[in-house]
Amino acid sequence: MPKRFLVKSYGCQMNVYDSARMGDLLRSSGHIETEDPAEADIVILNTCHIRERATEKVFSELGRVRELKRARAAEGLGTQIVVAGCVAQAEGAEIAARQPAVDIVVGPQAYQRLPALLAQGRGAKAAIELDLAADDKFAELPLPARADVRRRGVSAFVTVQEGCDKFCAFCVVPYTRGAEVSRPVAHVIAEIENAAGSGVREITLIGQNVNAYHGEGPQGGSWSLGRLLALAARVPGVMRLRYTTSHPLDMDDELLEAHRDLPQLMPYLHLPAQSGSDRVLERMNRRHGRAAYLRVIDAARRARPDIALSSDFIVGFPGETRADFEATLDLVREVGFASSFSFKYSARPGTPAATSADQITEGVKAERLALLQALLEEQRQSFNRATVGRTLDVLFDKPGRHQGQLGGRSPYLQAVHVDCREAAIGEVRRVEIIAAGANSLAGRLLETEALAQA
Ligand code: SAH
Ligand code: SF4
Ligand code: F3S
Repeated sequence: MPKRFLVKSYGCQMNVYDSARMGDLLRSSGHIETEDPAEADIVILNTCHIRERATEKVFSELGRVRELKRARAAEGLGTQIVVAGCVAQAEGAEIAARQPAVDIVVGPQAYQRLPALLAQGRGAKAAIELDLAADDKFAELPLPARADVRRRGVSAFVTVQEGCDKFCAFCVVPYTRGAEVSRPVAHVIAEIENAAGSGVREITLIGQNVNAYHGEGPQGGSWSLGRLLALAARVPGVMRLRYTTSHPLDMDDELLEAHRDLPQLMPYLHLPAQSGSDRVLERMNRRHGRAAYLRVIDAARRARPDIALSSDFIVGFPGETRADFEATLDLVREVGFASSFSFKYSARPGTPAATSADQITEGVKAERLALLQALLEEQRQSFNRATVGRTLDVLFDKPGRHQGQLGGRSPYLQAVHVDCREAAIGEVRRVEIIAAGANSLAGRLLETEALAQA
């Protein structure tokens, strides 16, 4: 009997990607996707454990889903509740203890077993599948059907690397996603060909540490991310390439050369700095200092002078002094970011920093975050204003807010809207930027010919 399923995704792009693959998997077993939780026979929450708030969100959502399950049961309908993703991996059996309505707990490296777990149904206890072993789950997953790929839009994620061996002192990822593994080049390229053949024009290669990629090459040996990007750029239909998230230590020469040589590789680098203080970076176990970070930024700018930069920052890491925080502000001023994410440090159970004695108070964290965010926002606005008057390539990816408008992205990931009837979603067109608003740019279509076919 086909069932209706709903997948709700939290957290990073890796989870967005995994959610899509879980959907592909369930569709290939005959189930049907729904967006209405009340009619879902299977509800999958693909969860994130990165900060305390992310985890708490999952438990409050589970409370709501339990109510739906009860209401459906009163009508004689069964509901299977699945907790997937990083909370599943980190908390395992405790989830089922805290929320008994949960039927299945499945980790991020084990979701290829979902159809079997669902078919098996519930025993007295929730089924728990948390194998982190590096057997290639992708090999067991069906390639997404072309119609499903196209429906998701002209921009797609492809996971090329998973897990992390870096063990930053604040971070749960090495525990929830396991050790670093890279997918073989041939598998990645096959997925990109499938996507491009379905009408996808922009591919973002993703991984927790994507530039640590070292997948097996077509003739053996291991390939770097730069080399993989060069091959991906040759796949017909691929107009744009991006990759995220990178670690400063893994920005090697081949990747910088890719930025220099590949027109398809967008001039945008998300390179988390976390802090501008050497003392804090050391305690975070980031394994690089401020000077090394700045050297990488310099090298990226030499390779691709118009590259836009973005970063992640944590404020209030244990022991962070006012001077350390000032060093972060100073680094931000020195680099100049187009966009960034910043967070208050959140103590995560099981990570080394969580038990440090010198935790920073909530008030100080909030104050520092507000200061940092004000500076980052000012930089973002000024970056956007600086594109006014320039001509940029825009990939149209959705209808605009108003009739006759299209929305798209600049090479620098800025949202751009254009009044035009002559362009189509999936095309890359030359656009003159005419105004910068708070969250998007307004542009004017320049020529009639598309640089890429929709
Ligand atoms: N692999 C990436 C990012 C992983 S998580 C990297 O190495 O940078 C995304 C971001 O969440 C991190 O860059 C960090 O800024 C933030 N983050 C991770 N753990 C955190 C914690 N315990 N508290 C606050 N922010 C955290
Ligand atoms: Fe987490 Fe550090 Fe690994 Fe990034 S590099 S995923 S922050 S442990
Ligand atoms: Fe969250 Fe797991 Fe991603 S903890 S940020 S969903 S790797």
